[in-house]
Amino acid sequence: MDVRIKKTAEEMSLEAALIFAETIRKKPNCVLGLATGSTPLKMYSELIRMHKNEGLDFSRVITFNLDEYLGLPSEHNQSYRYFMNDVLFNHINIKKENTFVLNGTAKDPQLYCDAYEMLIKALGGIEIQLLGIGGNGHIAFNEPGSPRNSRTRIVDLTKETIAANSDGRFFKDPKDVPTQALSMGVGAIMDAKQIVLIADKTSKADAIYKTVEGPVTEDVPASFLQEHQNSIIIVDEAAASKLEKQYA
Ligand code: PGA
Repeated sequence: MDVRIKKTAEEMSLEAALIFAETIRKKPNCVLGLATGSTPLKMYSELIRMHKNEGLDFSRVITFNLDEYLGLPSEHNQSYRYFMNDVLFNHINIKKENTFVLNGTAKDPQLYCDAYEMLIKALGGIEIQLLGIGGNGHIAFNEPGSPRNSRTRIVDLTKETIAANSDGRFFKDPKDVPTQALSMGVGAIMDAKQIVLIADKTSKADAIYKTVEGPVTEDVPASFLQEHQNSIIIVDEAAASKLEKQYA
């Protein structure tokens, strides 16, 4: 695990954007794994800026997102497909048909999830996967208790995750948040050649401490990243505030 502590969320975002931009420049038809949530917003703004001002070219890039609420149609303004179009895809020269977000209204969700993973494999696998982290240590919607070998599937959201996603940023009322989602599994995420997890704010400090310095356990799904051969954890000082060891 390569742990990098940055002073601010802006520096964290810039560092992550630079890593993704370098991947795209080296391999213009690369497959990226992308994430939703508040944490990646500044990084996506930076990638848009690099596209507009520095010619970062997404015309051959392919993307797969981690998760989607079960039952939410893509047009819903809280769907992750809507979010990704709104905060990134509509502002860069990516082909929409090269952007994949799990379909929350698939008729046979498990068959659909299996096909999603097969498509990732057929395209050569994910070059670099972006992750946020939940206050409870979840990655994508793999809540505590998710096994290391879990694959893309229907998952139940915890009360904590439902509360975090209805705190005014996304849904207004917990009752409006779907209780289930489709999520790439821990095993599917660990198949990525490189993983970049970003986290800011003190609300993530405990989860980051357990992820980086705690035991590898399914109680903290992000801790499995300790076993990945090429994982980078980029945090601001607030999210790093409970770490006990020294990092660069
Ligand atoms: P956040 O969510 O970026 O909105 O904090 C991250 C997550 O729950 O994975």
